[in-house]
Amino acid sequence: MSVFRTKTVEQSIQDTEEPEHALRKSLSAFDLMVFGVGVIIGTGIFVLTGKVARDTAGPATALAFVAAGVVCALAALCYAEFASTVPVAGSAYTFSYASLGELPAWIIGWDLILEFALGTAVVAVGWSGYVRSLMDNAGWHLPNVLEGPDAPDGVFDLLAFVLVLLLTAILVVGMKLSARLTAIVVLIKLAVVLIVIIAGSFFIHADNYDPFIPKAQGQTSGSGLDAPLIQVMFGYEPTSFGVQGIFTAASVVFFAFIGFDIVATTAEETRNPQRDMPRGILGSLLICTVLYVAVSVVVTGMQNYKLLTVDAPLADAFKATGHPWYAGLISFGAAVGLTTVCMILLLGQTRVFFAMSRDGLLPRFFSKVHPQFSTPYRSTVLLGCIIAVIAGFTSISELATLVNIGTLFAFVVVAIGVIVLRRTRPDLHRAFRTPWVPALPIASVAASTWLMLNLPSETWVRFGVWMGIGFVIYFLYGRSHSRMSAAAEQR
Ligand code: ALA
Repeated sequence: MSVFRTKTVEQSIQDTEEPEHALRKSLSAFDLMVFGVGVIIGTGIFVLTGKVARDTAGPATALAFVAAGVVCALAALCYAEFASTVPVAGSAYTFSYASLGELPAWIIGWDLILEFALGTAVVAVGWSGYVRSLMDNAGWHLPNVLEGPDAPDGVFDLLAFVLVLLLTAILVVGMKLSARLTAIVVLIKLAVVLIVIIAGSFFIHADNYDPFIPKAQGQTSGSGLDAPLIQVMFGYEPTSFGVQGIFTAASVVFFAFIGFDIVATTAEETRNPQRDMPRGILGSLLICTVLYVAVSVVVTGMQNYKLLTVDAPLADAFKATGHPWYAGLISFGAAVGLTTVCMILLLGQTRVFFAMSRDGLLPRFFSKVHPQFSTPYRSTVLLGCIIAVIAGFTSISELATLVNIGTLFAFVVVAIGVIVLRRTRPDLHRAFRTPWVPALPIASVAASTWLMLNLPSETWVRFGVWMGIGFVIYFLYGRSHSRMSAAAEQR
C-alpha cells in the first residue's frame, strides 16, 4: 500500500530545516492579510464579473459571489487548521502528504500546478484587457488579431504573452516584490475597487436591476458540452440565467476567491503560523467577499447587464456612463494590481514544484537552484514559456473554469484530510481547530462538489485528461523516485 504511505508531520517540518532548502520565517498576520488581498483581488472581480453578469446571471451575480464566498469560507476553515498544524511550503500538497498518503498528495500537487499555472494565464489575459482599455483611452489600438481569442477576430493575446515572459524573467533573476512595494500595490488596488464602489454608486439606474434574476433561457450555442455537468446529468435543457444561472455563475466567479489557499503556502515563512495563519486567511477572505458583492451590485446597476463588456467591464461601465476619466484611472489601477497577482501565482507555481521535487515526486533536476540567483530557474523557465503560450491562445473562461475545478477538487481533499488527521494524529498541536468536525468539513466537501458539478462538462473532460497524465507520471516516475521510497528501503 505504498501509495498511501504518509510523510509524518515531524518529517515535513524537519525537511524545511535542511539548510539548502530553508526559507526565512519573517511574515506576520498583517503581512499575510496584505499578501492575501494582494493575490485574491484580481481578474475574478475585474473581468469575470462582466462576463458572468452578461452571459449567466445578470444583476444576480452579487448572489453568485455570496454563494462562492460561502464555499470558500468553509474550505478556509479547513485550510486554516491544516496550515496551522503543518506549517510547510506546498499548501494542500503537504497537508495531504501528512494525512492521506502519497498518491492523494501527488494528485493534489498535480492539481495545484494546474491551479497556479493556468491561474497565471487567466490573470495575464485579464491584465491585457485593462491595458488595452488604457491604450484605447490614449487613442492607440492593437490590430484585432493580437487582442486574444475573446475579442471579435482576435487570435493571439500578445500582451498577455509578453507579460508572462517578462515575469518569468523577473522570477529567474530572483527579484522579489518587496513588502513595501506589495503594500503600495495592494493600496492602489483597494483604492480602485473603492472608487468603483463609491463613485459608481452615483451612476446607478434602478431600472438596471429589473429583473434582478433574469428569467432562465435555453442555451442556443455549442455542442452541449459547454452546459453545466449537473444539467446534463439530470437531463435538463441547458439554461443560462434564472436560479440555476446563479450557481453556474458562482462556479465561475469562484476564481475571484482563489488565493486564500496560497496564503497557506507561506506557512513556512510565517513567524507564528499557529496564530497568524488562520487570522490571515479568514481576514483576507472576509474583506474580499464584502468588496466583491458591492462591486457587482454597483456595476450591474450602472450598465444593463446585457451591455457589459468582457475585456475591461469595470472601466467600460464608466466609459458607458460618460466618465472616461474614471475609466482611465480604473484601468491603470487594475493593470498595476493584476501584475502582482500574476507574479504571485507564478511564484506559487514554482513553490509547489519545488516542494514536490524536494520530495522526489518530480525530478530533483527541478529543485536545483541557480548558482548565482538562488532560484529554481529550470522549472520557472520551462513552465513560464508554456504558460505564456497558453495565455496567448486560450479564452479566459475556458482557462478559469479549469482552474476552478482543480482548486475545488483540492478543497475536497483538504476537508477530508482534516477529518482523517484528527483520527490518525489526535496528539498534534493544533493552534487553530476547525469548529464542528466532522460536520463542517463534510459540508465543505458537499459545497465544493456542488460548485464543481455546476462547471461545464467539457471542463470535466479536460480535468480528467490532466489527472490521467498525472497518474501516468506518478506510477512511472514519482512512486519509485519518492524520498519516502528511499527511506523505506533504508529501514
Ligand atoms: N483571485 C485571483 C483573481 O481573481 C486569482 O485574479
